[in-house]
Amino acid sequence: MSEQATIGAALQAGGSSPAAALAQVEGEERERAAGEQEREEGLDPEARARRDRALAEIRKLGDPVLRTRALPVERFDRALRAEARRMGEIMADALGVGLAATQVGILHRLFVYRVDPDEEVQALVNPLIVAASEERETGEEGCLSIPYVHVAVERHRQVTVRAQDLKGRELELEAEGLQARVIQHELDHLDGVLILDRISQEARREAMRLMREARAAAARR
Ligand code: NI
Repeated sequence: MSEQATIGAALQAGGSSPAAALAQVEGEERERAAGEQEREEGLDPEARARRDRALAEIRKLGDPVLRTRALPVERFDRALRAEARRMGEIMADALGVGLAATQVGILHRLFVYRVDPDEEVQALVNPLIVAASEERETGEEGCLSIPYVHVAVERHRQVTVRAQDLKGRELELEAEGLQARVIQHELDHLDGVLILDRISQEARREAMRLMREARAAAARR
């Protein structure tokens, strides 16, 4: 798909959704995006090549699979564990903190995440939020499927998640702060929901504009 087509689809998706007005993209977001670009440019060539390869495997905005609801996992076999391992590698190489199966074109209710790079990658299968704090927090989020975009998204500060591990064992975990944010973001992916759906139309328009600028700048480099 061409860049143009992707952006066109993005605008279409953005223009029609009645997302709640939660936060505005401000000048600081733009500075942050510029800062991130610098950090990426500071990567050594090998890490950058690895990152580019990983990003190439991730479905981008405009791909219909990102808008599709994933299906419950029923088989907890070696193939599932291999899938999760591969997703963990792609996420780490792409320098992300979370990756949902839909982002690599697999319609499984499965995501991996790692908030702290020193920790092991966690995988949650068939996750469900069973409790959420009334208290919410607004924080900045990016998405490996939506390059160059950072937007302020409101999330529950704490969530309790029921899920299964890769062997099918039931588990329940409580998360707060960044971990809770990542879990809510990845769970959204499994329902075909993107960060652009969780911001105001105005913020979305601004985010799309910055994305076009960043893409044009990257193409000039
Ligand atoms: Ni994402």
